[in-house]
Amino acid sequence: MCGIIGIVQKGKILKKKLGTVLRGCLKNLEYRGYDSVGFAIITWNGELVVRKSKGKIDDVSRKLGFDDYDGVLGIAHTRWATHGKPSDINAHPHVDCKNTIAVVHNGIIENYQELKEKLKERGHFFISETDTEIIAHLIEDYKSRGYDTFTAFKKAIKELKGAYALAFIDKEVPDRIYFARNTSPLVIGLGKNIMFVSSDIPAFLEYTNRVIVLQDGEIGYITGDEVHIEGIDGTIVDKSKRIRIVDWTPEMAKKAGYPHFMLKEIHEQPLALSSTLAGIGVEVEKLAEVLASAQRVFLTGAGTSYHATLIAEYLLNNLAEIPAFSFISSEYNRYGKILTKNDVLIAVSQSGETIDTLMAVRRAKKKNVFIAAISNVIDSAIPRESNIAVYTRAGPEIGVAATKTFTTQVFLLSWIIIKSAQIKGSITEEEAKTLYSSLRRLPEYARNVISINEFLAKKIAQDMAGKQSAYYLGRGLAVPVSMEGALKLKEIAYIHAEAYPAGESKHGPIALVEPGFPVLFTIFDDEYRDLILANIEEMKARGAWIIVNTFEGNEKAVKLSNNVFKTPRVQHWVAPILHIIPYQLLAYYTSIVKGYDPDKPRNLAKTVTVE
Ligand code: G6P
Repeated sequence: MCGIIGIVQKGKILKKKLGTVLRGCLKNLEYRGYDSVGFAIITWNGELVVRKSKGKIDDVSRKLGFDDYDGVLGIAHTRWATHGKPSDINAHPHVDCKNTIAVVHNGIIENYQELKEKLKERGHFFISETDTEIIAHLIEDYKSRGYDTFTAFKKAIKELKGAYALAFIDKEVPDRIYFARNTSPLVIGLGKNIMFVSSDIPAFLEYTNRVIVLQDGEIGYITGDEVHIEGIDGTIVDKSKRIRIVDWTPEMAKKAGYPHFMLKEIHEQPLALSSTLAGIGVEVEKLAEVLASAQRVFLTGAGTSYHATLIAEYLLNNLAEIPAFSFISSEYNRYGKILTKNDVLIAVSQSGETIDTLMAVRRAKKKNVFIAAISNVIDSAIPRESNIAVYTRAGPEIGVAATKTFTTQVFLLSWIIIKSAQIKGSITEEEAKTLYSSLRRLPEYARNVISINEFLAKKIAQDMAGKQSAYYLGRGLAVPVSMEGALKLKEIAYIHAEAYPAGESKHGPIALVEPGFPVLFTIFDDEYRDLILANIEEMKARGAWIIVNTFEGNEKAVKLSNNVFKTPRVQHWVAPILHIIPYQLLAYYTSIVKGYDPDKPRNLAKTVTVE
């Protein structure tokens, strides 16, 4: 949802030209948006240069010659359009009337029309359709009334309603980048005589791993050797207490020889699972205890994270016997009214910044609901606003389609729920032991699943690429896996894919099935393993192309199918983590066959910070 990077150095610190470095940092943020790109640099002789255009980073930077520009400081932006279509004019940065101030912004200024009218009356002229442009003019306007840039900025910010992470530079103060955050994410990177401000940590990981995650309402500026942050009430933030060292390495945010991040991230799952396992600590115990004594547990998330909540919901109801209800975070009202202080809400978000999920958390908090966050990003908004935060350790995920963060979310949630079932006594000690040992073996099994199924996924992708639609069917715990599988195919291969409980498929979906229609069945070694065979027969009778994703040894299902993805036979409670992997691979290779870029699916962004 738009990526921002700002860099300011004290003297010539960077070995390369600033334009080249901004481009490199921006590449690490491309997952946040990729419809237009731009930068603004203050050159060594004090000129403000602004270049921007519609298109992706590589094309735009070649076209505009990013690499030719150097300077003391600069800001850059990769856009995911909200207000105003992708175009050269709507690309960021946006400038004021005098071409002195340049602003980049992520989020939405809700009252921009009103402010625009006011500013027009005061003689300002606008050239774009964006909400962002008003920020430059508003600051300019306050400056024209005699305020210095920072005071003008603070006054301007008070007038903005909505979500924003923004950074701007002023040619008249050529040693600093100003920034503010409200709802949309923004982090500061602290180097030696060089500072960064960005939407996300991977942008500057190559230069520093010392970060401050900004909080809502914070405003400030960076120079080459200074960070100044003020809180919402004007108090100066004590930075020393806020600096975190992240243990992500720059290599983690690189493709490491893989053609795409998504493929790398699929292959990283064994490692991501073992790191998450190694990271299980006291917070997990605490949360398990909270769940064990909860009357009801609600779970929320968006996209892939929502699918993880569905698996957790199933486990809570069936293993821990705790009434659990999962909902899509933008659909808070589904249960909002009945939430009470005796309930627990688990908010699942890899980024920790998805606005829909953050809003659900905030609304539940107002009702004194105990909030637990599951996230992959330390100190991000959702964990920070929760009563307890437990982290997956998947490392940075760059591909827009979530893969390793999904399997680690499910892994962590499963562990927590097994623990709470054990505390509650709804499973025996023996059962708990077996389940933990199944979970411990998953990293190794995940590796097997990849090696057994990758070639087949590539092969099936050749035919799948020619299809318009596909069904993903399963029963019980396999339903959310089917939903996630369908989402992957839809997101990156642009094939209409729908998931259904297999038993429900005869109540409508089957009407579409004709010879060659792909139907993918997920079958675990559980009570449904034989029941689902009838559903396969029903589809087969209509000539469907049957692809089965099942455990080794399920010969009955194999006999009925055209293709089989095989996974090791594990306890069905933990099986979702393995069975999603062939679907990730299938979606990836289908996208490749169709000639798309799976890392940057059209119209999507990794972190969605608008409601
Ligand atoms: C976007 C991404 C999805 C992701 C969802 C939730 O839609 O494209 O891949 O699952 O946001 O993101 P979160 O960071 O909250 O897990």
